[in-house]
Amino acid sequence: MPYYRVAGEIPRKRHIRFNRPEGGLYAEELMGEEGFSSDSSLLYHVHPPTAIVKSEALGDIAAETVLAPNHPLLPRHYRTQDLAGSGDLALGRQPLMGNDDVRISFVTADGPSDLYRNSIGDEAVYLHTGAVRFESVYGTIDAVAGDYVIVPRGTIHRWTPAGPASHAVRPEPVQALVIEARGHIRPPRRYLSQTGQFLEHAPYCERDLRGVAGPLIADGEDVPVIVRNRGGLTRFTYAYHPFDVVGWDGYLYPYAFNIADFEPIVKRTHAPPPVHQTFEGPNFVICSFCPRPFDFDPRSVPIPYNHHNVDSDEMMFYVAGDYSARQGSGVGVGSITLHPSGFTHGPTPGAVEAVIRGMEAGRTTTDETAVMIDTFRPLLLAPQAAEAEDPEYAWSWARAARA
Ligand SMILES: [Fe+2]
Repeated sequence: MPYYRVAGEIPRKRHIRFNRPEGGLYAEELMGEEGFSSDSSLLYHVHPPTAIVKSEALGDIAAETVLAPNHPLLPRHYRTQDLAGSGDLALGRQPLMGNDDVRISFVTADGPSDLYRNSIGDEAVYLHTGAVRFESVYGTIDAVAGDYVIVPRGTIHRWTPAGPASHAVRPEPVQALVIEARGHIRPPRRYLSQTGQFLEHAPYCERDLRGVAGPLIADGEDVPVIVRNRGGLTRFTYAYHPFDVVGWDGYLYPYAFNIADFEPIVKRTHAPPPVHQTFEGPNFVICSFCPRPFDFDPRSVPIPYNHHNVDSDEMMFYVAGDYSARQGSGVGVGSITLHPSGFTHGPTPGAVEAVIRGMEAGRTTTDETAVMIDTFRPLLLAPQAAEAEDPEYAWSWARAARA
């Protein structure tokens, strides 16, 4: 979505004959959002992108997972370190929570994925640890920890954990938080000009977005591609490898944005999460909390105040640093909390006084990094999350208040 790009060779005009040097024509394909009424790209394939030779139904753990209401209502804390299982980045995801707009999963990758196409919605894959190569019909992205990789709906792609530079060094495991939308994930509209340029007040801009290196050509015949649509998972066998695009142009393509490139906005007194907003999806937002100076009024309280999100559920993934607001609650790096509508959440009692003492002793910055997803419909819970849940979390505020 963000802006126009071109890769490889394309003909001078749309929809004209584009000759292959060995004879014949390249096959033009439009990838278009919202029918023909929104962003799109035109791709030029060596072979017809329509040529499939087989279609097989596959079982689908994710689609078969029954999400249950958060009832009785509780704030939740999950430790991703305690999640069982691993798999590849496309199909090995452990669902944690979701609703009709978004599904949130966590994955520890143990190998390369199959070729995959999600035709339900866009994905934001937040790489927590490790490094991975993302390959797609548009080209490749080398992603590192802290990257959000935005994968538009319908993009055929695969994920391969990056190998060690030397066999003597064991690579860091690849772990990712995966946000699957039932629609499109885009930069917030309020960051953009009428024609789509990032405005000066936006906390990031075009220079921070890394497009694909491409094009990417792979040879092969009878190549399986796993497709997710609302009916479930299907394995298509393509007559030719789908990575056969010699050039493309348009506004629709995968890209990466690293959380360290987000420019935090700081006020004199504490700023609410909308200043951290990074992306928007259908009925949800994604925010990035990044290291920043404390709010700079000498009497400021530089951690969140108690708040009741009347209309939304709030999920927070704790990426790095030290969480002053939740000291003593058990929350740490790798934690995921869910603070639902109907429950007022805030700092652990005593945390405000502790951070003020820290400021008086000369502390001026916070090193916390976190990814937050606020949804405007309640988040339902996956049974896979229960095994990693801290059952004492809901009582952590009362425990500290009475201590
Ligand atoms: Fe909150």
